[in-house]
Amino acid sequence: MGGVTCLEGKVDAKHLQSLVPGAGLYGEARVRGCGSGVHAVGTAAHAAHDGIPHLFDYLKRSGTRQARREALPKVPVPPLKQTLDMYLKCVQHLVGQEQFKKTKAIVEKFGAPGGVGEALQKKLLERRDKTSNWVYDYWLEDMYLNNRLALPVNSNPVMVFPKQAFRDRDDALRFAAHLITGVLEYKALIDAQALPVDYARGQLAGTPLCMQQYRRLFSSYRQPGLKRDTLKVQTSHSSSSEPQHVIVACKNQLYVLDVVANKKNLNELDILSQLEKIAKMAENMEERLPPFGLLTSDGRTEWAQARDALAKDQTNRESLALIESCVCVVCLDEPGGLEPTDTQRALLMLHGGGHEKNGANRWYDKPMQIVVGMDGVCGVVCEHSAFEGIVMVQCSEYLLKYVTRSPSQLGRSSSVTDLSPPRRLLWRCSPHIQALLAASTERLQRLVSNLDMDVHKFTAYGKEFIKKQKMSPDAYIQVALQLAFYRCNRKLVSTYESASIRRFQDGRVDNIRSATPEALAFVRSVTEERAALTDPEKMKSLRDAINAQTNYTIAAITGMAIDNHLLGLRSVAKELSLENPEIFSDETFLASNQFILSTSQVPTTVEMFCCYGPVVPNGYGACYNPQADHIVFCVSSFRQSSDTSSAVLVGALEESLLEIRDLCGRSQACEKTAGGSQGGGQPQKAGK
Ligand code: COA
Repeated sequence: MGGVTCLEGKVDAKHLQSLVPGAGLYGEARVRGCGSGVHAVGTAAHAAHDGIPHLFDYLKRSGTRQARREALPKVPVPPLKQTLDMYLKCVQHLVGQEQFKKTKAIVEKFGAPGGVGEALQKKLLERRDKTSNWVYDYWLEDMYLNNRLALPVNSNPVMVFPKQAFRDRDDALRFAAHLITGVLEYKALIDAQALPVDYARGQLAGTPLCMQQYRRLFSSYRQPGLKRDTLKVQTSHSSSSEPQHVIVACKNQLYVLDVVANKKNLNELDILSQLEKIAKMAENMEERLPPFGLLTSDGRTEWAQARDALAKDQTNRESLALIESCVCVVCLDEPGGLEPTDTQRALLMLHGGGHEKNGANRWYDKPMQIVVGMDGVCGVVCEHSAFEGIVMVQCSEYLLKYVTRSPSQLGRSSSVTDLSPPRRLLWRCSPHIQALLAASTERLQRLVSNLDMDVHKFTAYGKEFIKKQKMSPDAYIQVALQLAFYRCNRKLVSTYESASIRRFQDGRVDNIRSATPEALAFVRSVTEERAALTDPEKMKSLRDAINAQTNYTIAAITGMAIDNHLLGLRSVAKELSLENPEIFSDETFLASNQFILSTSQVPTTVEMFCCYGPVVPNGYGACYNPQADHIVFCVSSFRQSSDTSSAVLVGALEESLLEIRDLCGRSQACEKTAGGSQGGGQPQKAGK
């Protein structure tokens, strides 16, 4: 990973217009500590056509700060004892007593002075000194590259845009052309290292975050491997190796759309005219080739085998190389024929509706697939190994704002006349590959029938209400999720919540294990123990649960969580060819890594939402987007599991959020009464 310099700065709106005549302004003023300026991302993008040099000179002169990735601290290695103690605390209430006793003995042996744990910890500390991020490679392999499951549903998160009201196909193509122009401008900002540095919000707000993930948005590719995938990142900064084409998928055919001609990006009018040609070419039934994109929807080993078979042929190799080196894939989808509810649109983004709809009109390995449905169902499908959901949101928001708020350039631009037409990617298909395609089709279909998705907008309140209770909205929602799960299953299970560690060099995420003992005490206090406890007792229990969750969050975002550390210790042992330490083959450890609840906060500032599938067959994916006065929940599960039902969990979640609100309300009323009568109020029992 090369050194990256990020420019950050602000520019006065009027001054920008004098620098870049005619530049309209759009985007939000999201400037820290500055009311009237506009953030560089909004302005530089508008200046992108020919204003960038001026703007950059200005930003530099006006004291623009250069934040170097190397200036960020390295992810720490937590003390061994701290992690082991925390691990025991995390699992004690989730396993039986006998099992816990066994686990405790194993953990103590591992952590004993002079034991294996100490030796591995020493190696990790050495690794920390030698690398920019000791956990990055271990984590990437464990989380993504070693995973053999198919990318759609199991791994790729999606952003679902509001349904677009296209008048007709031409209108949809204009939208796509506008989006592609937005992609090129955003990419220009990334390439020029001109994106403003992100700063942490919420807990421990204000520290700069690592921007490295942005570089992979349009320059990487996840190549399938027989045992392990590879995340290929174009590292060269020379313009000759920069991707200069977009792959357009239309009616399951793939086309190369060159976006640079005469060293200049195509303008929107040219892009539109190329898209129109593609749409026309795709109508030609005689030229139609099998839907090769389907192969990428398969299990990773199956796709790797198919790719090997494909790559035996020179034509196929050339087509693969063009896809792997493109800026992004733009999928022009056929109408899905479904009522475009939030849930249906989410499903169409996650798996395209299978081969009968748009499931083959994809190339799932590519980090950024931008979907423009002719029926207005639009969004972004991401390959996750390259970056986190938050980066996907930033980019998606930029693109949606770009198309909805910046004027189309169609009327203003003149066309390059000698543009060669887009090229259809050619493939040679043997009977063997035909059979592989048929198998991939069937497996995608199974995934489609299996996914049970429920997108739910909780409208009774949002994060402002929670803040008024002086509680962390994220912690509150996590506790509500625990309560909902408990209501459905009468137990808590290993839970994953992603916590960003972008405060550190090349930081990705660690895990907040939200099923804390305090959460268990709380959920019991409002279920089995409901009648026996007073409201103040329940309220104390709620506060304890929220505090425990908040404290875990702070530990995680400061690099002190346990999952990355345990993974590091395990990986070092493997690297040293040591026998797998017992702590990592223990039943408790294995169960504690089966995340039946896989959760993530993905907030947006533009109307859109993120969703993803469960990570285990009997689990839930639960992604939430807290807004000021409502919260969007996207709950997913698999129909094959008799243990789960997305609608049932959503129902329990609604009930839990209302119950917690009522508890807070009653407690406040009680406190007021107590305050009014000098503390003489009687604690109230539930149900009264
Ligand atoms: N009283 C009042 N307000 C409070 C509060 C309290 N006790 N605690 C927090 N708040 C406020 C915060 O100041 C913040 O205000 P803002 O909306 O004005 O910024 C807001 O509530 C949200 O804070 P909080 O709910 O505590 O959460 P957070 O924003 O710190 O988020 C994580 C917590 C774990 C989600 C976040 O740190 C993180 O890691 N996000 C990335 C997750 C990720 O990677 N997702 C994608 C995975 S693919």
